[in-house]
Amino acid sequence: MSVPIWSQPRIAIVTGGGSGIGVAVSERLAADGAAVAVFDLDGESAAATAAGIETAGGTALAVVCDVADRAAIEAGVAETVERLGRPTILINNAGITPFGRFLEISRESFDQVIAVNLRGTFEFCQVVIPHMVEEGWGRIVNISSSSAQTGNFGQTHYSASKAAVIGLTKSLAKEFGRKGITVNAVPPSFVETPSLHRAAEAGQLGRGIEEHIPTTPVRRVGQPADIAAACAFLCRDDAGYITGQVLGVNGGRVIV
Ligand SMILES: NC(=O)c1ccc[n+]([C@@H]2O[C@H](COP(=O)([O-])OP(=O)(O)OC[C@H]3O[C@@H](n4cnc5c(N)ncnc54)[C@H](O)[C@@H]3O)[C@@H](O)[C@H]2O)c1
Repeated sequence: MSVPIWSQPRIAIVTGGGSGIGVAVSERLAADGAAVAVFDLDGESAAATAAGIETAGGTALAVVCDVADRAAIEAGVAETVERLGRPTILINNAGITPFGRFLEISRESFDQVIAVNLRGTFEFCQVVIPHMVEEGWGRIVNISSSSAQTGNFGQTHYSASKAAVIGLTKSLAKEFGRKGITVNAVPPSFVETPSLHRAAEAGQLGRGIEEHIPTTPVRRVGQPADIAAACAFLCRDDAGYITGQVLGVNGGRVIV
């Protein structure tokens, strides 16, 4: 006997689904049986993720969307409703990860990281939650960062944006729990994605990725599938009593 994941078909939106963690989350939710709308600024990568899901026997739609553009969010969600149905699962994963010494961070760079990481998450929730309310059920997972919990040298703007995502998550949980909607945050740490490799190549991770293994309690580098497993768990029907929580997926690197 097994416990069903969902009592009815579910439609999920994954932002930043064209790379790294977003690919793994899209594939995992599709493998669990959801139809997945893969949103990304980069249309080719979104199409590649969607094609991979379809080849594996799942249902997917690729949507080109800049999460910093409200009109693009509204158009993409409308397209999802028309082609797949009402979205009731939302994974706000799209993000940019700039580095910079505090005194050298420009207002443009600050505004951009807030527009993508925070306002994009805020506005995606505003556009999708009415569909969840209509259905009386919803699951939102916002991808934060361990740097929101610990701070990170050279990432004041990024850490601030990701810490704000946690405040947004907790407040939304309180406002929409009564509507059957849960809202949780997953802050990853050190997950092997193109973004982590870019940071390593730019010398922002000390001597590299492997040197962090001895200081990681589980003695390995995190993988996108680790984050996907946590998101999939939080999106299940039987995770309905878990809301407003911050589930660190970090191999024990950050224990708070
Ligand atoms: N990899 C890690 O170790 C790590 C650690 C902490 C937090 N995170 C967070 O996890 C999320 C995914 O990170 P990743 O490592 O997979 O990064 P990634 O760079 O590999 O993928 C990010 C994806 O988001 C898309 N994207 C960027 N800006 C966008 C925009 N304005 N609109 C739509 N899509 C946009 C990119 O095109 C890309 O496909 C990010 O929010 C990141 O901050 C990652």
